[in-house]
Amino acid sequence: MRRTAEDRAMGVGFGGNAVFNRASPSSNPDCVARIVAEFLPAAGRPPRLLDIGGTAGGFRRLAALPPGSRLVIANPERGVGADYAYVQDMPPGEADFDLAMLFGVMMYLPPEDLLTLFRDVKQRLRGDGTLLVAEPDPEGVVGRVEVAAKTVYAAIVSLWNPTRFIFHTQGAARALLRQAGFGRIRSRPDLRPGGQGFAPPPQPPYFVLAARI
Ligand SMILES: C[S@@+](CC[C@H](N)C(=O)[O-])C[C@H]1O[C@@H](n2cnc3c(N)ncnc32)[C@H](O)[C@@H]1O
Repeated sequence: MRRTAEDRAMGVGFGGNAVFNRASPSSNPDCVARIVAEFLPAAGRPPRLLDIGGTAGGFRRLAALPPGSRLVIANPERGVGADYAYVQDMPPGEADFDLAMLFGVMMYLPPEDLLTLFRDVKQRLRGDGTLLVAEPDPEGVVGRVEVAAKTVYAAIVSLWNPTRFIFHTQGAARALLRQAGFGRIRSRPDLRPGGQGFAPPPQPPYFVLAARI
């Protein structure tokens, strides 16, 4: 799994601030502020956060975290300021997270690798912790255009570097989360970036799920 995921990540390597990611919650100050307000413990102990596939220029840059907070980034892409390449590389002590985020990463992983990742994350979350998953929605009109565009893009890039995207629907993501042991899963469209002023919301639309044990 490690080699395959790394190959995919290195092959595409969008990075956290690329224009491709404007629709991700971690690229948007309002969404980041709402996530910080809702999913961190109210007081008493320093929050612990895990950003899987995150970058120092994304959530970490935008989040105003309380003093003493720990935000761990796991991402195999070089130069994005990650603390670890993969979650499975993290020592057992990297646990008790209040919040884990997986934004725009599922497209790199086949279902069996995603299930393994969800199970690992579940082990590292606090009992009342939350896993937030956000992914470009392959369903709907824009989603289908996005799937077609990514498929063509991957075919062209594959001429010199094997590249493949895997399109997970919201229903498939929910099923994998349930299989991994997340019992409470809610759709959170309010955590998607909205349009500002007269501007339309960034595309493609993401689905956002909040999963708890
Ligand atoms: C489209 S970017 C999303 C960046 C950021 N999370 C955001 O929402 O803007 C996807 C990132 O996922 C990373 N990635 C791919 N497979 C991964 C894995 N198995 N574990 C952690 N990160 C992974 C890639 O290296 C890439 O930087």
